[in-house]
Amino acid sequence: MLFIGDVVGRAGRRVLRELLPALREELAPDFVVVNGENAAHGIGITPKEADEILRLGADAITLGNHTYRHREIWPYLEQERRIVRPYNYLPTQPGRGTTVVEAGGKTLGVVNLSGAVHLQAGSPPLVAVDAALKEVARADLILVDMHAEVTSEKVALGWYLDGKVTAVVGTHTHVPTADARVLPGGTAYITDVGMTGARGGVIGMKKEQSIAVMRTHMPMRYEPSEVDPWLMGVYIEAEGRRATRITQILRSGS
Ligand SMILES: [Fe+2]
Ligand SMILES: [Fe+2]
Repeated sequence: MLFIGDVVGRAGRRVLRELLPALREELAPDFVVVNGENAAHGIGITPKEADEILRLGADAITLGNHTYRHREIWPYLEQERRIVRPYNYLPTQPGRGTTVVEAGGKTLGVVNLSGAVHLQAGSPPLVAVDAALKEVARADLILVDMHAEVTSEKVALGWYLDGKVTAVVGTHTHVPTADARVLPGGTAYITDVGMTGARGGVIGMKKEQSIAVMRTHMPMRYEPSEVDPWLMGVYIEAEGRRATRITQILRSGS
């Protein structure tokens, strides 16, 4: 399966449109999962971007801390089974935290989790994940997108789920880490897959604005950068539910 990191704004959507068809041909993944939490102008997602990502061939969309930024997505999260928000949000918040999608006679269980450190989660991810896994227990393959700020939470989750799921992939920091590997129990793991967006910005947003905010301590409207867009993700191979290989995908767009 192919997992693609946070699509950021127009540049991210453009590089996804440009590179995903060729990647699908080259790697022939059974499943494509895309994190779309920054697809709408860098923050959140609306039905328009979600529909586009699904149309491009994503079997499922995962989200994160910007899930509810746009009201239009709230009912969509209830209606569209292929999009998930973190499972460990409050039960009163719209949407589901797990889904099972089917392609080519195989099923993939997708679980989205949020870190609890420096992010607003309803319950601790390493506790909530037990119930989440029950919802996808019958799927052939299981992918967990752990959307978290700190590396320790993601590493701990990887070890906790080793042997239980096919892959634990980290998102949210938008910076890819160099620790992709298959853990001894057969779970593919990476602390952060990175983003699909402009590398010429600060985690996808215009660098001039980020620098100005950090130099003045005054608020400013952030806009997504268009400079040097890349697609970042991981390609995971598996035999049965066990992962056999994880390969980082880091490609520049035009
Ligand atoms: Fe993000
Ligand atoms: Fe995030």
